[in-house]
Amino acid sequence: MQDLLNSVRIIGDPVLRQKSRPLVFPDDTPYITGLVSTMGKVLEVAEGLGLAAPQVGESVRLFIATPDYLDELNGHVVFINPEIHPYGESEKREEGCLSVPGIYEMLIRPSRVSIKAQDVRGNSFSLDVGGLAARLMQHENDHLDGILFVDKLSPVKRKLLKGRLRKLREGGRVD
Ligand code: NI
Repeated sequence: MQDLLNSVRIIGDPVLRQKSRPLVFPDDTPYITGLVSTMGKVLEVAEGLGLAAPQVGESVRLFIATPDYLDELNGHVVFINPEIHPYGESEKREEGCLSVPGIYEMLIRPSRVSIKAQDVRGNSFSLDVGGLAARLMQHENDHLDGILFVDKLSPVKRKLLKGRLRKLREGGRVD
């Protein structure tokens, strides 16, 4: 259990800052199967809402959502090579991230997203979601481009968090 939790990369780890590579079907299929299985276990143990591959050290374009969102996401919890288009009104919601433990902040993002992605078999699907699911999709998709939610906070908020973020980057914990 603890090993799985410790496999989550924390801010300061260079893999979280890389632009991830697209996955290729069918060449990457066995790798994807293994990765999704590992990520599912990590997400369950960590009790997170979503997890992106770079957060377990794999720089590829894949993220998962917790099965709690199965209905809202029309049965999809694995998103491979996603293309995301946020739209709609701006909405303020609290965000946190397993890679930035202990920090939760309000952040403004568009309220809806349309998504195109592939499932574990490489089949394409499209979705259009709002609410927390829309927020989750945007947050996880950012991970694939090396972006963390704290990057999107106002300069004032970032300044206030500077010490705590530095502590995390240096391998400490903030609680
Ligand atoms: Ni995150």
